[in-house]
Amino acid sequence: MFKIRYEGIDWRTHTTPEKEHDGMALSRERIRDLYRVRAKRYDLTANLYYLIGFREKHYRQRAVAALDLREGDVVVELGCGTGINFPLLQRRVGPEGRIIGVDLTDRMLDQAKDRTARHDWRNVEFVQADAATFTFPQGTRGILSTFALTMMPEYDRIIRKAREALSSGGWLAVLDLKKSAQAPLWMTRAMVRITSPFGVSLDLAERHPWESIERHFEKTSFEEFFFGYVYLSAGTVQESKISATSRPNVTDIA
Ligand SMILES: C[S@@+](CC[C@H](N)C(=O)[O-])C[C@H]1O[C@@H](n2cnc3c(N)ncnc32)[C@H](O)[C@@H]1O
Repeated sequence: MFKIRYEGIDWRTHTTPEKEHDGMALSRERIRDLYRVRAKRYDLTANLYYLIGFREKHYRQRAVAALDLREGDVVVELGCGTGINFPLLQRRVGPEGRIIGVDLTDRMLDQAKDRTARHDWRNVEFVQADAATFTFPQGTRGILSTFALTMMPEYDRIIRKAREALSSGGWLAVLDLKKSAQAPLWMTRAMVRITSPFGVSLDLAERHPWESIERHFEKTSFEEFFFGYVYLSAGTVQESKISATSRPNVTDIA
């Protein structure tokens, strides 16, 4: 049975001793076991966070918009889960495009397959794999990860591989949870508690994928939502012909 370990956390600083860091995050096996159990009701339970003002759909829309996809593009989603972002991606890439959903958990992918079948989408491919070992296909124009990348200990390597794989003008967009700089401690405790059924633990706050994006990409953007607990970080590969600054909704912080 899944259990979160809180030992070793300094609740004042929200940090863990270095030696505890990796021990506290869930292993791949435990992540897979957890999401196998959650798969069927995942979409329903994720929607319950609306009750506390967590505007999940809005954040997802922003993340997909940040990819700046065009019809016919190839987009990869890492940790795609039940394919909850697929309708948004489909609207952008159209039937001529390709969506490749990568996920560790077979039952989450089964839900994504059901969704794909229900919509009769013919342009979706599924890869059951650890994102850390996945090889991006040639011509990848967009890479998305929502509420998944922080769970992957090798996130820095994955982001570097994403940078190498993206064609000119392509974007990586990562939407995920983080520690809030401004919110009070009681709120952080509550956030961990209510997201713990999805494998969130405080030590994950020590992982900062947006810093890897800023390190590996030439041009980046960063936005926060929900009291600073949610961030959207995007990075693009500079292209020579079209100026990336012409894109809306991107705050350049590089
Ligand atoms: C919280 S769910 C997010 C699902 C979906 N992206 C969303 O926004 O609702 C996290 C997903 O990441 C997947 N995952 C976690 N670690 C992974 C890894 N190393 N490689 C691939 N998928 C992973 C899990 O199986 C799960 O489906």
